[in-house]
Amino acid sequence: MNATFSTNQNKKMVVNLKIKSLKGSVVLPGDKSIAHRALIHASLAMGDSSISNLPVSRDIRATQSALKKLGVPMRQSAVGDLVIMGSGGELAPPDTPIDCMNSGTTMRLLMGVLASCPFESNLVGDESLSKRPMERIAKPLRTMGVEISTTDGRAPVKITGNLKLNPINYELPVASAQLKSALIYAALFANGQSVIIEPQLSRDHTEIALERICPGNFKREYSDARTNIINGPVELDSFETTIPSDPSSAAYLVALALLLPDSEITFHNLLLNPCRIKYLDLLHQMGGDIEITQTGNEMGEKVGDVIVRSSELHCVDILSDDIPLLIDEIPLLAMISTKAKGRFEIKGAEELRYKESDRLKATIENFRLLGVDLWEFPDGLSFDCPARLESVAVNTYSDHRILMSLMVVSIIHNLDLEFESFTNLDVSFPEFPDYLALLSR
Ligand code: S3P
Repeated sequence: MNATFSTNQNKKMVVNLKIKSLKGSVVLPGDKSIAHRALIHASLAMGDSSISNLPVSRDIRATQSALKKLGVPMRQSAVGDLVIMGSGGELAPPDTPIDCMNSGTTMRLLMGVLASCPFESNLVGDESLSKRPMERIAKPLRTMGVEISTTDGRAPVKITGNLKLNPINYELPVASAQLKSALIYAALFANGQSVIIEPQLSRDHTEIALERICPGNFKREYSDARTNIINGPVELDSFETTIPSDPSSAAYLVALALLLPDSEITFHNLLLNPCRIKYLDLLHQMGGDIEITQTGNEMGEKVGDVIVRSSELHCVDILSDDIPLLIDEIPLLAMISTKAKGRFEIKGAEELRYKESDRLKATIENFRLLGVDLWEFPDGLSFDCPARLESVAVNTYSDHRILMSLMVVSIIHNLDLEFESFTNLDVSFPEFPDYLALLSR
């Protein structure tokens, strides 16, 4: 890769990532959503579990250190390989607040875990996490008998769990894997049967894992896969797993392989859970040359190889039912579409406003800076493609996915963009620049 990073008179980083094409094969770090859950399940299980290909990202560090603070012993045998001595559900009171850093998944999933722990815990986060809604989880947990207070609906969150949790019969107001998982974790240790229903299916890693490690007491209605029945209290079995590679990190490399000429990348051992690779389906419908082959199964999760080659893209309709399955890739899909033909339009994506930044605003404002004419909706945006973009100072809103999407824009449009910082890459995919260097020709 011929990348230049320099500092201008405003002390901002100017980046010109001169990459002509990307070629090669990669195995990416483990999936972030599965990693959070594997750490939690192993901590709650009876006996020792071993986890390999654990990503070294900041979000995963947040969950790992939180569980250590809650008294779970862990031993690292090599980078990404961890043995966890499960507590069987008996965690220890933390002596200081638990810092969830930038990670919404850490905070929300822990709220569910702590619901049945009979001590006080305080959950804090960074500036971004302290702006994100937490009442959507606190409210149903209160009906289960948990004492919980938020700060104007956000973090810091104070929670005192209850050994005698009531079961819950709850229909989620939004499709959210974090909310669903938090309630399922609470229900695991409640006394009686809980039923938790989602309006639309969101990523289902919690359910897939619990079907394996909690057989008999966790059931999913397969007619719609949106209804979960939990007979608490349960015991979780220990397990051994290698976390499949993260398709949401792969997405940035997929975008580049599609849009740079003469490119081809093979991703091995990629997670192929249909709730996570909807963006690959969509890019394929847009004309993307993408081949997907399932090669295995890791604790119920499909795994396989994906080959992506340079392609001409055209815009297609995005269905509102697919939005929860595309949620982390929507800003990137918008940025990819600046090179496609037709009109990009997305509606019904209001949930994007509650991510690490308001990702709808971040996408729209960056497009405005880059010189794209667009229509803004309360729940989406639209613009004519292809679009001509200019070299300007962009705003990453301190959000890792906005930052990586803008890096992709700078490469595919061959722009000199000015970034305020790259530090947030480590939230999910610190190795992104290394993979660019490895694959660039
Ligand atoms: C995640 C769920 C998603 C996603 C987030 C990770 C998870 O949020 O945006 O990056 O691991 O459960 P939702 O709660 O909106 O589904």
